[in-house]
Amino acid sequence: MYNIATLNKISPVGLDRLTDQYALTEDMAGSHGVLVRSQDMLSMEFAKDLIAIARAGAGVNNIPVDRCAEEGIVVFNTPGANANAVKELVLAGLFLGSRNIPDAITWSYGLVGNEDAAKAVEKGKSQFAGREIQGKTLGVIGLGAIGVSVANAAEKLGMKVIGNDPYMTLRAAHNLSNTIPVVRTLEELLPNCDYISIHVPAMEKTKGMINADTIALMKTGIIVLNFSRDKLVNDEDMLAALATGKVQKYITDFPNNKLVGKEGVICIPHLGASTEEAEDNCAVMATNQLMDYLENGNITNS
Ligand code: MLT
Repeated sequence: MYNIATLNKISPVGLDRLTDQYALTEDMAGSHGVLVRSQDMLSMEFAKDLIAIARAGAGVNNIPVDRCAEEGIVVFNTPGANANAVKELVLAGLFLGSRNIPDAITWSYGLVGNEDAAKAVEKGKSQFAGREIQGKTLGVIGLGAIGVSVANAAEKLGMKVIGNDPYMTLRAAHNLSNTIPVVRTLEELLPNCDYISIHVPAMEKTKGMINADTIALMKTGIIVLNFSRDKLVNDEDMLAALATGKVQKYITDFPNNKLVGKEGVICIPHLGASTEEAEDNCAVMATNQLMDYLENGNITNS
């Protein structure tokens, strides 16, 4: 019998796959396997019998992967299982930012109680005029499952797309539309983009990759989307660029005290993977990985 600790709520569609060889617990003590979403496990104490951790999601920055490697604990994630959900939110972000929708909605709340709201609305029409994404260039930084999915969808919407990834996998190369060029460096990418969307993991070398130096390479009036990880963007540098108009909008699902309410910033909660479908997909994949490893010693991370 294996004890599986569930940290966070894991979709029952995944948990139901566990056979009667498994007992679920919310307690780490005595666990052989862990199913986790975004709960911070960095300073958590592990049971001495812990064998594997399955992260129902893409990023593993909440898991002490180095410590796990030292202790022989296998860590899985579920690449691709929530890619469609994130892609759809990124597409929403492109439209929200380009058409000034959040400001326009906030403005229209101000019409509550206005006796002639329909007439007042005419004013908003010019105030919130936006731009179209068709024909504009989107730079996709990071070509994992999510980046590839965003790139292909944006191209289908009529955007020109350029990809950037120094470590592109064969699978990504196979899945990426063959009309999308890929450049190896940000220096080659940034000067050519009207929009960029970031899809790289948070690591020492990606921390603060969008900063004053890289922003300086961008076209004036660019819209930057970050639905990946907060640490990838230097907030102070981004706010300074928004203040000068170098960056027109920064759209992210990582709100913090520095960013919320600031001119040009569109913040939403970390909603990228928060759909029923993505939660089910991630839970199923993570549960399968855990069972296959515990029972058969197989490592399947795709
Ligand atoms: C991921 O890493 O899969 C997404 O950021 C969503 C999440 O935090 O689970």
